[in-house]
Amino acid sequence: MKARIAVLGGDGIGPEVTAEAVRVLQAVASKYGHDFEFSEALIGGAAIDASGSALPPRTIDACRESAATLLGAVGGPKWSDPGARVRPEQGLLELRRTLGLFANVRPVRTMESMLDASPLKPEVITGADILVVRELTGGIYFGRKSRTAHEAEDVCTYTTDEVERVTRVAGRLAMGRRRRIVSVDKANVLETSRLWRAVVERVLRDEFPQVEFEHMLVDAAAMHLIRRPASFDVLLTENMFGDILTDEASMIAGSLGLLPSASLGAGTNGLYEPIHGSAPDIAGRGIANPYGTILSAAMMLKLSLGLETEAAAVETAVEDAVSAGVRTADIALAGKATVSSREAGAAVVERLLSSR
Ligand code: IPM
Ligand code: MN
Repeated sequence: MKARIAVLGGDGIGPEVTAEAVRVLQAVASKYGHDFEFSEALIGGAAIDASGSALPPRTIDACRESAATLLGAVGGPKWSDPGARVRPEQGLLELRRTLGLFANVRPVRTMESMLDASPLKPEVITGADILVVRELTGGIYFGRKSRTAHEAEDVCTYTTDEVERVTRVAGRLAMGRRRRIVSVDKANVLETSRLWRAVVERVLRDEFPQVEFEHMLVDAAAMHLIRRPASFDVLLTENMFGDILTDEASMIAGSLGLLPSASLGAGTNGLYEPIHGSAPDIAGRGIANPYGTILSAAMMLKLSLGLETEAAAVETAVEDAVSAGVRTADIALAGKATVSSREAGAAVVERLLSSR
């Protein structure tokens, strides 16, 4: 197949990890006879430096003209001045909104060979396989904001439509899994959460009768997630709770550097990015973990390009590399040498090309 893929490296370690994912995609293309064309564009701090805008029009065009977008990360101390007029993060939020990517899908799994790398006990995380579906274009992230000298405000709003469509995504995904959804909210305090609860309940009852579901308050969910992670299947939640819970959940997988994500809208054009940030502390050293971005590229192959075999091959190659001990510093094995981003990417490419 022929496909154009937009690549937005962004800031910090972003370009370092997307470079490895692109190498893996190139290997996929050569192995399976596809023709991927990559178009690079700027976002975040890099775009602010070049043009004054965190999301230049040319970048939006590049994403729209592509089958899918691969993104690294945005942000960094250079652009973090509280008084700054534009922030790198605005570019990412604006891109999600402009492309209508309302559902963010974040799989969290414990790989057998990673049991030792998690700060949690192996017996607690064994067998964990969670799919977090995070609402991505609503809630407190996108409500009215204001600031005076003595007061600041971030409004949290949800509409019925917004809750319905993300619930349907969770329902469809749950049908292909263990058919259980835990919907997370703060309905004991927030009005938006009470609406969320009512809508989730109605949509799941009417449209996904085979899916078992329960509601859970976010504070309790944060606790149960690390107390009994293996008991969760699909976890459905609003924008900010999903942001926080997925960083927490990354410890079940072993490292923030391992988690991929897909942001999806009504069509097949999606945005694929690791859940980690730009990690300014290690940027430029070539030691960032590229596996989360490579696994994001695998999600792209499956969800935007319909290439399931290729996606599975990439996932297997990553798992094989990790279990063979090809590990970056964040998932280091005690007493064993760590590899660079480039070496980790190369290990995936090598396994992919030599697999049948
Ligand atoms: C994420 C990130 C973003 C978010 C930031 C960079 C705006 O933390 O994708 O999880 O909060 O959504
Ligand atoms: Mn986050």
